[in-house]
Amino acid sequence: MYTAEMLELIKVVEQTREKRMSETFPRINVEEKNKLLRGFHPDYMDGAMRPVQLGPNKGDALPHEHVDILESRSWVDPADVDLEKIDFDVDVLVIGGGGAGTSAAIMAAEGGADVLMATKLRHGDANTMMAEGGIQAADKENDSPPIHYLDVMGGGGFLNIPELVSALVSDAPICIEWLENFGAMFSKFPDGTMNTIHGGGTSRRRMHFAHDYTGAEIMRTLRDEARNRGVKVLEFAPAVELLKDDQGQVAGAILYNMETEKYYIVRAKAVIMATGGSGRLHINESPTTNHYGATADGIIMSYRAGAKLAFLNATQFHPTGVAFPEQVVGQLVTEKVRGLGAQLVNIEGEQFFYPLETRDAVSSAIIRECRERGKGLTVPSGSGVWLDSPMIDIIHGKGTVQEELPAMFRMFDNFGIKMDETPIIIYPTLHYQNGGVLINDKAETEIEGLYIAGECAGGVHGRNRLMGNSLLDILVFGRRAGMNAAEKIKNVKVGKLNLEHAAEYNQELDKLGLNERVSPILIPDYRYKISG
Ligand code: FUM
Repeated sequence: MYTAEMLELIKVVEQTREKRMSETFPRINVEEKNKLLRGFHPDYMDGAMRPVQLGPNKGDALPHEHVDILESRSWVDPADVDLEKIDFDVDVLVIGGGGAGTSAAIMAAEGGADVLMATKLRHGDANTMMAEGGIQAADKENDSPPIHYLDVMGGGGFLNIPELVSALVSDAPICIEWLENFGAMFSKFPDGTMNTIHGGGTSRRRMHFAHDYTGAEIMRTLRDEARNRGVKVLEFAPAVELLKDDQGQVAGAILYNMETEKYYIVRAKAVIMATGGSGRLHINESPTTNHYGATADGIIMSYRAGAKLAFLNATQFHPTGVAFPEQVVGQLVTEKVRGLGAQLVNIEGEQFFYPLETRDAVSSAIIRECRERGKGLTVPSGSGVWLDSPMIDIIHGKGTVQEELPAMFRMFDNFGIKMDETPIIIYPTLHYQNGGVLINDKAETEIEGLYIAGECAGGVHGRNRLMGNSLLDILVFGRRAGMNAAEKIKNVKVGKLNLEHAAEYNQELDKLGLNERVSPILIPDYRYKISG
């Protein structure tokens, strides 16, 4: 429930609404955007990063939280592990049970491979499940993959790897059809055509959605499909280290059984890493929209195995995280709220920025409004600005908020806030790892036998991903990883397993005097630190 002071301030938003609704806010040009990012985006703040001291990206400045896990020892002492005792012997090991891993497992199995999927928590406990707003695909008459391509490149600062963007946009219509054939229920018009809206940085309405729980609907569909096809799933069994063979190719992994605390050795002809992102590292000390398991596990395991990272210095802060009430600070307020017309409004009732600019720019503008211009609201967690959500029903008709945003409506309603009647308070929140392990358009890394799919991969989105291209990315590169791994394993013979890469990495850390940390961290530690 809002405080009396907040209720007073809401009156200003209401008084200025009619005038604002007739305004079109000017877009910014490239120079203005660059200046805004350099001034206010957390990536550009002094002291936000430091150079990593070892491995393929040695010397590159990355967020401290990522460097911490890269400059960490392996969970296992390579000298202590018995690699002769194989617990699982499969064609393809998929690490991660979210949307990318499950898509990969389905396609690898369809390609004839014997697949094992290992996941840290339960199958489907992943950022995919939590995605709200939608998935992009250029499948309408006024749109095309080349137009989608230009939008993706523009969003990423034209730094994205072109072959990856081309794969993303070309496979998009196929992925929507694939999901529909499995029974995914997207929101449609009465005549059966897909309802699609704009997201930030899109030049066409190509955001397909299932109300405001698109990710849950996609994950439900994929999980059912994988289970129906008999894909083997090991739950509560995260990977902690990759294995290689004597030809240097990735040939399996060590899994950790979180219930028994024993290790499993998995031998595989190919490994698909799909462990998701890193919101739970809380870069820039930010709250996050991310799932509890998002701790960048795949990044460190792939890095120790010799894989290069790309764009890991670009972190996405979603412009609209909840800033009030305190119990849900950092939770996602989907971009769909702005896609349906809600404006960003400061304490004086002014619309201060174009709401559907790319996320990096909108987040920076909100931070500027609060920090530099002093026109934010004070909330227990810091600052925030208004998102004028009642505009949605005014524009589209009474009941639209409850119809289009049922999960969000319920979340705020639980705290006595009716978002169709009163504006809500938001502030940027850590949302997405724009970069990751460098891949090519077959989802291959430079390390033989290692494939990466989903948020763990880098290069597709450049320095800034657009809304709806993450649910798309997990499907496109999950499917490609699965198909290509199933083909590849037909000609792979695994040699003797070893952990030499991990032993060498540990030796390098010893030389640098970096002995204290261990990664992957698997589960974030939220215990209070008691000093003294
Ligand atoms: O705003 C959102 O619904 C988030 C979507 C995304 O990150 O793609």
